[in-house]
Parts: sequence; structure tokens; C-alpha cells
Amino acid sequence: MSAPLWSGEALIAALGARLVGAMPGAITGASIDTRTIEPGEAFFAILGEARDGHDFVAGALDKGAGLAVIDEAHADAFSGAGPYAVVSDVLKAMERAGVARRAELKAGVVAVTGSVGKTGTKEALRLVLSRQGKTHAPVASYNNHWGVPLTLCRTPADVRYGVYEIGMSNPGEILPLAKQVTPDVAVVTTVQPVHLAAFASLDDIAEEKGSIFAALKAGGTAILNADIPQAGLLRRLAEAGPAGRIVTFGESADADVKLLSCALKADVSTVDALVHGRPVTYKLGSPGKHIVLNSLAVLAAVEALGADLALAALALSDLVPPAGRGARQSLEAPGGPFTLIDESYNGNPASMRAAIENLGRIPVSGRGRRIAVLGDMLELGPSGPALHEELAEAVLANGVDKVFACGPLMRGLYDGLPSAIRGAYAAQASGLEPLVLDAIRAGDVVTVKGSLGSRMGPIVKAIAARFPAVPADE
Ligand SMILES: Nc1ncnc2c1ncn2[C@@H]1O[C@H](COP(=O)(O)OP(=O)(O)O)[C@@H](O)[C@H]1O
Ligand SMILES: [Mg+2]
Repeated sequence: MSAPLWSGEALIAALGARLVGAMPGAITGASIDTRTIEPGEAFFAILGEARDGHDFVAGALDKGAGLAVIDEAHADAFSGAGPYAVVSDVLKAMERAGVARRAELKAGVVAVTGSVGKTGTKEALRLVLSRQGKTHAPVASYNNHWGVPLTLCRTPADVRYGVYEIGMSNPGEILPLAKQVTPDVAVVTTVQPVHLAAFASLDDIAEEKGSIFAALKAGGTAILNADIPQAGLLRRLAEAGPAGRIVTFGESADADVKLLSCALKADVSTVDALVHGRPVTYKLGSPGKHIVLNSLAVLAAVEALGADLALAALALSDLVPPAGRGARQSLEAPGGPFTLIDESYNGNPASMRAAIENLGRIPVSGRGRRIAVLGDMLELGPSGPALHEELAEAVLANGVDKVFACGPLMRGLYDGLPSAIRGAYAAQASGLEPLVLDAIRAGDVVTVKGSLGSRMGPIVKAIAARFPAVPADE
């Protein structure tokens, strides 16, 4: 049996907590959610946006939590057996424990940030590294003020590789999270107009993303995108920090990890790249030029970690698009199958374009059509209307036959399209849903995309509920 995640003593010490009740034995996990907590795990009573975790402490202990981490202000309210770890601030204590765990690791640690592609790159790294050694990475994005320390606390001490995603909604959020991780390798996937509302310019976004490099372990590797206008700025930020090495990736002639050529197929890509001068040829199991570019960052990180490049390249053929980020299913319409592509997890100008290009690459036959079901891209500030209208070009260039749109911003795109391409418009996703359901027919390929807040996920669910899945062996 492998060692427990934490011994009770080690966790109490790392938290800097006062123990009330009996010292727990092995702590098997870390949780902030009683819906998913497992017996033996430590429950952290975090103050969320809507709820206070202290309201769930009793429930966590009922479900067998091995320890409840609570703050002094609430300590008197709990009288049961606990055990309780009492601290002045639960989130800060979780950060301390995460940092303590990080300090113990003998692993190669990678942190990934960027405007898009963080989760996809993190998942690709998990896939390729876990074939080479015990690897820990967060279950979902888990890239914010609680997700990062929770993921650190959940990292077994004996992993060979740790992969962490670092995100932000507002300026100043990346650096403190990245410092908790203190990565050996830090990746900035790209800089794009995402969360633009919170920043004055793309350069400001690059400054924020590039602050990850200041958190590198001394002598670590900074990996950045050579193809974007902010590459020079990112490099300067890397040079100003503790990095011992700067590695660029992309199509640019001077990139250290360079795309030589790629064949973009409907459901896979094949790639020829040079990794520090060494030719690598591989197949990527997830389609799209954007995934090809992200894969260069993955190989750059693999090389920087000293892991096996050839094995990593081989593993990339098993990549699949994560849920909500291009996952495909074949469903049965009256008269024959059609394809549903779930891109509903999120949408911004970069990923929207990538999704439309992917749709354009899928062959349709007979009466089948390429259908894009699009909801508003949010948090774009004053540039929002123009960034929506400009998508018309991508729609036309990629052979999209019908656009179904919802939301006030998508109205701008919709109204600018030729009438033959306009499928239907509704103010909200819920209004668009029945119109999309009625329109789908055999042979179609349907992509659904928009910001999380535009609620496009329910449209995907409704389509999957209306039409039965095509059995896998057909
Ligand atoms: N380099 C990229 N350029 C454009 N779009 C991308 C890129 N990488 C990923 N995407 C798309 O962006 C969306 C979000 O991807 P994800 O990996 O979840 O990013 P994040 O974690 O940064 O939000 C998906 O639709 C994905 O296909
Ligand atoms: Mg993410």
C-alpha cells in the first residue's frame, strides 16, 4: 500500500492549526465540497462566493471526513468529536499546506497559464507524463485562489511529475498562485483577447500571464509562444526572472520547438516538428491547428523536464478533446446520423475561431450541413461588438452553412450574415434551443459554442436528449 496523502501530524503542522479532538491517522484526500467528499479526507471550510463552508462541516464529518479545517471565529460553534483543525483563516492555511507539500516534492513541476489552452495543455501533459511516471494534475481547471492550493494539497508526496493550471480573471492573480507552485517549468500558451474587460490592452494581458515566469524555481525553464506579437514582451519578463532557460514554440522560423508542417484532418492532425533541432513526427488525437500549436508547448515542457520526448510524442495520438472543448458524438436523426460537437464549455474570439475552423474541416455529404450554434462571448468590454461581427469572415471562409445565434452581441454577427446562412436568432439560449432541435437533420455537423455565462451547455444536453446515440460499432 502506498503512503497516505498526509499523516495527521504532518497536515496539522503544515496548516499551523490547533487540533481539537483526536489526532487523525491517515488523511486520504483534501476536499472543499461535501457533495464529493470521501471518507478519510480533510474538509476545508472555505468561504465561497455564495456559501460558507462552515455550514457544511457537520455534513462533511457525517460523511466520514478525517478532519475539518475551520476558523477560530467558528470554533465555538462546533462541539462534536471532530476532529477539527482550527486556524485563523482556512484559505491561508490551505495555501500553507499546499506550499509545504510543494517543498517536499522531488517531482518535475509544470505550471501552465495563457489566455486559452490551459486545460487542454494541462490534460495533454497529464496524458504524456503519466505514461512515464506517477503524475498529479487537477481534476478540472482548478486554476484559481482555491483551486491551486487545493491541487497542491492533493498532490501525493511521491509523484514524479506535477502539472498545475494557473488562471486569472483580474490583474495580479497569476503571480501569487504561481509562487505557491514554484514551477520548474512555466508555460504561457498564448495571449488573446480574453477577460479583455479587465485589461487596457493585449500587452497588459501578456504582462499578467508573463508574471508566471517570476515564480519559477531558480534555473527553471520559461516556455513561451513565439508566434504572437507579445512574444518579445514575454521574453523580457522571462529574462527578468529566475529562469535559467527560455524556450519558444510555434511556427516562427526562430522558434526552439518549431512546427515544420502539419496535416489537419477532420478528427486528427499529423505533425512534423523540430524540438531543439531534433525532428519529431507524431499524430495528435484531437483536431485543430490550435491543438497542434499547444502540442509544441507540451513537447517543450517534456524536454525541459528531462522526460522522454519520443514516448511523449507517441502518447499524443491518444489525446481526446476534453468535455465541452470539442468532444464529438454521433447521434441518430430521422433518416440517418449526424455529428454533435460540444464546445459549450467556454467561448472567446480565439477559441471561437478555432472551433469554426474545425467545423469547416469536417466533410459533409448529401443534404448535411455545417451548423454553428453560437452564444455571446462575454467579458470583452468595449471591443465586444466588433469581435462578434468580425466572426462573419471565419463563418464564410470555413463553409458554415447555417448559423443559429443567441445573445445581444451575437445579434451583430447574425445580422451581418447573408440571409441564406441565417438559421435563426433568439435573445437567449433557452429560446434558441427548440429552433435548433427542429432544424437538425441527417448528415449535419453541429457545433455549439459560447461563453459559459451564455448557457449553451443546456442546448448540447437538449440535443443529446432528443436524439439517440448511434451505437459505437456502427
Ligand atoms: N491555442 C489556442 N488557440 C485558440 N483556441 C484554443 C487554443 N487552445 C485551446 N483553444 C480552445 O479554447 C477553448 C478553451 O480551451 P481550454 O484548454 O479549456 O483553455 P483554458 O483552460 O485556458 O480556458 C477550447 O474551445 C479550446 O478548443
Ligand atoms: Mg481551464
